[in-house]
Amino acid sequence: MAKIARLTGALALGGLMATAVLAESHIDPAVQRAVDARQAHMTLYSFNLGTLGGMAQDKIPYDAAMAGTAASNLAALGSVDQAGYWIEGTDAGTIEDTRAKAEIWTDMADFEEKAMALTNASAALAEVAGTDLDSLKAAFGDVGKACGACHETYRVSDD
Ligand code: HEC
Repeated sequence: MAKIARLTGALALGGLMATAVLAESHIDPAVQRAVDARQAHMTLYSFNLGTLGGMAQDKIPYDAAMAGTAASNLAALGSVDQAGYWIEGTDAGTIEDTRAKAEIWTDMADFEEKAMALTNASAALAEVAGTDLDSLKAAFGDVGKACGACHETYRVSDD
């Protein structure tokens, strides 16, 4: 019964999503591209965060230019409108190869708030990352926390 209710709800919401639900193993290419795009976006976050985190944790030497670039990339990525990636019906309970929880779509305002927290923290980091290592360290924590807070609530854990 629950499955029928979900399918009916999905059908009411439109083509892309209904296709995702009906063809779990043959996912609509447009839906797949959206999932790929959001995961790629996350990979870009991760790459830039890795540079900054390496410096913040004294694992790689501080380089002002490199830090400034990574932080401004992160801020730029954080300001991208991602609405097209997060298509309803593309949660881990409905399609394969995603760790997105269905709660993203039931709690969208909170999800967006968590995305905004990252945007704000990245912008603050971008202001100071190229100044000196202490400033980078002081601003880095909020960025890492913003990633973690969203993953904790909206990403299926991988263990
Ligand atoms: C607003 C919520 C949110 C924020 C903020 C966020 N993420 Fe994610 N992240 C997700 C969700 C949801 C997924 C699962 C996406 C999927 O599998 O479709 C994910 C997946 C990932 C992945 C796995 C990508 C893949 O190829 O499957 C990485 C890496 C990642 N995030 C890194 C980061 C980093 C680094 C930050 C901070 C700079 C960050 N994320 C901020 C929600 C968020």
